[in-house]
Amino acid sequence: MGRIEPQKYIEAIQNGLEKYVPEEKLLQHGLFQAMRYSLFAGGKRIRPVLLLEFCGACDGDQESAIPFACAIEMIHSYSLIHDDLPCMDNDSMRRGKPSNHVVFGEAQALLAGDALLTMAFETMLSKDSVAAVGAQRAAAAAGILARAAGAYGMAGGQMIDLESEGKQISADTLIHMDECKTGALICAAAKMGCVLAGAEESRLHAAEKYAKSIGLAFQITDDILDVSGRQDRLGKPIGSDQEKGKSTYVSVLGLEKARTLVKQLTDEAVSALGCFGGKGNYLRRLAVSLSEREN
Ligand code: IPE
Ligand code: IPE
Ligand code: MG
Ligand code: MG
Ligand code: MG
Repeated sequence: MGRIEPQKYIEAIQNGLEKYVPEEKLLQHGLFQAMRYSLFAGGKRIRPVLLLEFCGACDGDQESAIPFACAIEMIHSYSLIHDDLPCMDNDSMRRGKPSNHVVFGEAQALLAGDALLTMAFETMLSKDSVAAVGAQRAAAAAGILARAAGAYGMAGGQMIDLESEGKQISADTLIHMDECKTGALICAAAKMGCVLAGAEESRLHAAEKYAKSIGLAFQITDDILDVSGRQDRLGKPIGSDQEKGKSTYVSVLGLEKARTLVKQLTDEAVSALGCFGGKGNYLRRLAVSLSEREN
């Protein structure tokens, strides 16, 4: 059984990404360069870590979950490359470095995003990945990720985000937007980990509840940090949301209410993990540390 210690998660994800997105000497090597630029720019790897931890907490084989963990990070990286483009949020800094399109140009950044999205599915559905977890679990995990990344999830949320610029929107619309644009991928990470481990329904349900709460808390914290964070720690521009007239938790509810909501959602996440017993301890700590993050 391939277990991975939590302190080795980042390294395992790093090695996996190196394997699946290598430096290529092909004619299109520039595309790989742009993909790798964002993949290895120093992201926190929250989604793949969640996937691996849920897989482990459900007694699954974490080694064979690595391609799936890498796939969700590829999709996340693609979403950020496109999110920063001039036609979207027009942000020129990400993870303390110039955004992908600033370095490679818009066309190449667009293609790097496209190729990462596609590479995610290639990685999950390769012969080796499928053989390691079984066809049924591989298909279920890939299906969860497809749904979460597309029109019902991240891409859908990004659409609502763009349409809400410069408008007054209700708290309900805001919640729906954030559940889609950010919550969906975080939820998918948790669910994929469970599904890959063949978890029972009660655990899958608890994982979903937990991830829904931390997913929303994660975006609210992101909105708070855009206002009150330190740019040297955050690695992306402060005040970007206000500049673009974005509808955020801070603009709709105010800073204090937004902070209270993060605490409330974190408590909800922690208590959702009852059926995991001691196996949920790492995830409980993770929820709290994400609510206190500075980047
Ligand atoms: C940033 O996500 C975008 C949101 C969904 C709020 P992360 O904060 O996970 O970004 P990285 O990967 O660590 O840079
Ligand atoms: C989340 O929203 C982005 C995605 C879902 C891709 P933001 O636009 O607030 O993310 P940051 O602040 O640029 O990282
Ligand atoms: Mg955005
Ligand atoms: Mg943005
Ligand atoms: Mg933001």
